[in-house]
Amino acid sequence: MLVFRFVPMFSLSKKIALVTGAGSGIGAAIAGAFASAGARVFVADCDEAGAQAVALKITAAGGVAQALRLDITSEADIAAAVAAIGVPLDLLVNNAGVGSVGTILQTTLAELNRLLGVNVNGTFLVTQAFLPAMLERSRGSVINLASVAGVLGVRDRFAYTTTKFAIVGMTKALALDHSASGVRFNAICPCRVETPWVAQRIAEYPDPPAARRDMASTQLAGRMAHPDEIAAAALYLASDEAAMVTGSTLMIDSGWTAGK
Ligand SMILES: NC(=O)c1ccc[n+]([C@@H]2O[C@H](COP(=O)([O-])OP(=O)(O)OC[C@H]3O[C@@H](n4cnc5c(N)ncnc54)[C@H](O)[C@@H]3O)[C@@H](O)[C@H]2O)c1
Repeated sequence: MLVFRFVPMFSLSKKIALVTGAGSGIGAAIAGAFASAGARVFVADCDEAGAQAVALKITAAGGVAQALRLDITSEADIAAAVAAIGVPLDLLVNNAGVGSVGTILQTTLAELNRLLGVNVNGTFLVTQAFLPAMLERSRGSVINLASVAGVLGVRDRFAYTTTKFAIVGMTKALALDHSASGVRFNAICPCRVETPWVAQRIAEYPDPPAARRDMASTQLAGRMAHPDEIAAAALYLASDEAAMVTGSTLMIDSGWTAGK
């Protein structure tokens, strides 16, 4: 028999979350959304001032948040973060990432290594450090920020596309290896999102207004997404309501990939 329970969905009450790259953009929006759903959030970023500003805003709004200086490419920083948090995570969001514009002919090995170092190796190191405690408790949700560029080739984003395909692959491999234990792994694949990152990319083009119009046009809505629209997807994947969701790539792309 159908029984309606009129309780709010997507509560993260009593959950402990770490969001990397949370000092800006999408990560900041995810940290805020998790805190508003009741989680205790560690706002981690290599930009300590950015992390502190976001944590302050969350606490001023009544949430529970703590800033953490964390460069995800540094094993020492990660070990210090594990010690500082001191308890197993319920939620890990691997959001920190970097990007660049260019084809293979415009990409140096140093630039490719920079993107691989943060986007791929950083995600690997952070996940490897926090996963054992999650596996021990047989629960938890790991959310990796991939991109439309993790499922489709994107023009002029050679290095970035290479790393985001790796994130999608990593997410699926993790799910196969570990989700029977109760820990879930999912990737979010956003379209263009209005963040400081995108503003920077646009500024790199010779005709920034034309680049902005071009970036808005890949979404059927004719605009870029707002960081809160990506945070909403993360909130769902973090919640117990998503218990049956693992190994997925959740497209938040306003139809960019539909039909492709
Ligand atoms: N904005 C978009 O259009 C878009 C689209 C798809 C996917 N994404 C992905 O979403 C994530 C967040 O992007 P954003 O647009 O909010 O970017 P952003 O530049 O606004 O924020 C990224 C944050 O990551 C931090 N960071 C960078 N390197 C780090 C490191 N080594 N250790 C710790 N923190 C580090 C930065 O200091 C910054 O605060 C990235 O993984 C990005 O690839 C963004």
